Amino acid sequence: MNLLKYKNYEALSEAVAEKMILQIISKPNTVFCLASGNSPLKAYEYFVEKVQKQNIDYSQCVFIGLDEWVGITPDDTGSCHYFLTKNVFEPLNVPTENIYLFDGLAKNLEAECQRINQAIIENNGIDLIIVGIGMNGHIGFNEPGIAIDNYVHVVDLDSVTQTVGQKYFDKPMLLKKGITVGLQFFLEAKNALLMANGSKKAAIIKQTIEGEITTAVPSTIIQLHRNALVMLDEEAAGNLV
Ligand code: F6R
Repeated sequence: MNLLKYKNYEALSEAVAEKMILQIISKPNTVFCLASGNSPLKAYEYFVEKVQKQNIDYSQCVFIGLDEWVGITPDDTGSCHYFLTKNVFEPLNVPTENIYLFDGLAKNLEAECQRINQAIIENNGIDLIIVGIGMNGHIGFNEPGIAIDNYVHVVDLDSVTQTVGQKYFDKPMLLKKGITVGLQFFLEAKNALLMANGSKKAAIIKQTIEGEITTAVPSTIIQLHRNALVMLDEEAAGNLV
């Protein structure tokens, strides 16, 4: 596991965007798996800007959403679907056939899991998975206590996630379940990038990097990844030895 620290959120985001660009340059048919949420927001803005300025050809790239809230419509501004569409896919005009996002309203959630499982397998696995970290150490919606050997699966959301998740919505929401790419795909991804910013993430980042590996803190699983990069701003790195 490698660790890179940046002065602030802007510098961190710029560096994450640059990693995404370099990834496409080294493998034009990159399969990305992308988190939503506040952490990667600016990185995606920089990514779009760099792609456009540098005329990067992303026409062969495949984009897979990391997770979704079950029961939330794709056009709800708090959904992961909306977030990635508005911040990455629409600005870049990514062809729809290259995008795989969960439908949080799917009647058959098991079939929805299989659809994304298949998409990942048929595209020969994830090249770069970009994740944030929850206050409880979740990765995607892989909540504390989750088994490592999960591919795409439906989860009961932890109470911390149910509460913290309210920040994405403009009115109180019932957030009981999620659908997520599992830790097995995370571990199998050729490259894993975890990014975090802000002092509120400092404690969980310390546990993730310096703590013992345990599914009670799913993010500690990153220590088992053969090609993982943790990118932090100074505040998120503030508690590290
Ligand atoms: C979102 C996701 C979550 C977030 C995490 C941190 O797609 O998978 O695991 O990455 O909850 O959220 P932010 O970045 O909003 O602090």
